[in-house]
Amino acid sequence: MCGIVAYVGHREACPIIIKGLKRLEYRGYDSAGIALMTHELSVYKKKGKVSELEAFIKNLPINSNIGIGHTRWATHGEPNDVNAHPHYSSNKELAIIHNGIIENYASLKTELESRGHVFLSETDSEVFIHLIEDVKQNNDCSLDEAVRLALSMVVGAYAIVVMSNNDKEMLIAARKGSPLVIGIGKKEFFLASDASPIIEYTNDVVYLNDYEIAIINKGELTIKNINAVTQTPYIQTLDLELDQIEKGGYPHFMLKEIFEQPKSIKDSMRGRVNASLGHLQLGGILQYANKLTNAERIIIVACGTSWHAGLVAEYLFEDIARIPVEVEYASEFRYRNPIIREGDVVIAISQSGETADTLAAIELAKSKGAVIFGVCNVVGSSISRASHEGAYLHAGPEIGVASTKAFTAQVSVLAMMAIIVGNKKGTITESQYIALLTELETIPQKVEKALKSNDQIVEIAEQFKDAKNFLYLGRGYNFPVALEGALKLKEISYIHAEGYPAAEMKHGPIALIDAEMPVCVIAPQDNSYEKIVSNIQEVRARKGRVIAVVTEGDTHIKNMAEYTIEVPATHEALMPLLTVIPLQLLSYHIAVMRGCNVDQPRNLAKSVTVE
Ligand code: F6R
Repeated sequence: MCGIVAYVGHREACPIIIKGLKRLEYRGYDSAGIALMTHELSVYKKKGKVSELEAFIKNLPINSNIGIGHTRWATHGEPNDVNAHPHYSSNKELAIIHNGIIENYASLKTELESRGHVFLSETDSEVFIHLIEDVKQNNDCSLDEAVRLALSMVVGAYAIVVMSNNDKEMLIAARKGSPLVIGIGKKEFFLASDASPIIEYTNDVVYLNDYEIAIINKGELTIKNINAVTQTPYIQTLDLELDQIEKGGYPHFMLKEIFEQPKSIKDSMRGRVNASLGHLQLGGILQYANKLTNAERIIIVACGTSWHAGLVAEYLFEDIARIPVEVEYASEFRYRNPIIREGDVVIAISQSGETADTLAAIELAKSKGAVIFGVCNVVGSSISRASHEGAYLHAGPEIGVASTKAFTAQVSVLAMMAIIVGNKKGTITESQYIALLTELETIPQKVEKALKSNDQIVEIAEQFKDAKNFLYLGRGYNFPVALEGALKLKEISYIHAEGYPAAEMKHGPIALIDAEMPVCVIAPQDNSYEKIVSNIQEVRARKGRVIAVVTEGDTHIKNMAEYTIEVPATHEALMPLLTVIPLQLLSYHIAVMRGCNVDQPRNLAKSVTVE
């Protein structure tokens, strides 16, 4: 949450920062601001999107080769011009951008106020820069030393960049818990929350570690740890192409990402599956592979859509590998006193790899001796680094705030994990193993086929775009898909939607069904087909309007439902990879028809780095 970009070098800083902030807007878009070195350190900020800041500074004399910028997702203080970042210190000699939360900001603020500091905003971040100023004045030390000392006094999460009026070629950055990447050019440096603002300038990057401070001064980068010991920067080469972070002709990132799924699923399996050779291997799961195979219980921790992928994994691991699974909301798990026994393993699922609750759940599980397998999309992210081992999704950058291709890549990777374990344990036969691999390899082309329903779904969306509520029903492997369908709809169209296991409908939600209620039923021809057909009849008997996702060629449900959307047949365990596709498209088209901003839905941010 919150995106930060900074630049120092020989180019004009402002256009680089504004363009970078636009790329990071998925992280928050309540307000934006920039600090530049004009004749002095000058801060410009505006409520609203980066484009509003851009318009605001358009005709100002803002030539500067150094600057820091921020796009905000409000935590402390409502979104307005004053609460927007950057924040000045009292004497306006320093400015800060901050992503994260300072938990002890209230006590620090009281103390600083008692020493004469006056605060203009309601933010914790302003407290941070006053603290740095205070420490600098009291200790009469350099700025980097003041930052270091101040960091030891704050509790919470941060990625910060500080700029000073006195050192006009200097930026100081630090991180704990919130991501920060440094792009290294020729005598120029780019800092950002992720690599997307950097990619067109350089491929050489350093991912700052927790408790590290980067001092960039006069074209030199020095990294120190919190104890002031100089660290050797580990320079990595970015594996990211510019076209991966652009819309490529689609009106929205979300639609692009939905249509990318044949490729992203294929990429998630690339080099890992080969059915004709009976080969399935995840290169990132080696040393602890036996822990997973011999696990007595798997605990899955995740949030949101990733939690839904975790629920699919519960069915996969229980079915294929016969291991009991518990799927936990990371936010609940971290504040319980969970029982972790020897023989338990934890799988953490996260697209961004930065979700604060999931990260905290991992730390808690680790402290109790658990081995952690991370399933992340973003390479080098905090969760991937905090895990003992894991597998990347390789789905490519997901920029639309509503997760789509990450979900299918998560299910694909988790299916591979379950199949590997099932094969090793012998809980599936060799022919079942080969059948699963063969079917996995067909999924990308089946997703391609499922996407062909797009035009039909536009027509269905037209019929239901004004609905006030939606119900989603599924059974077995498709129960999590019902939850995911409902989440997609509510987050981007603001229509209230609920997902339920279809049989639970009788225990309450059936009371909601009338001629106004659209009910999406995920009803492929699997083990529970007859049961779900009965559920459709129950909805119809109460005049509910059924939109059913069915297996290609199903005529039985066609006679009952108002609309049927077909997906190709596949193995029951892999069906979520297909049934979720029409639901993603339905939410997308309804949201567009309602005039909603699908890529940046209100109040949401892509990377939830605060709890
Ligand atoms: C929904 C969505 C969120 C995320 C959740 C976890 O479309 O995107 O629910 O799934 O915030 O994020 P990650 O997977 O990055 O940990």
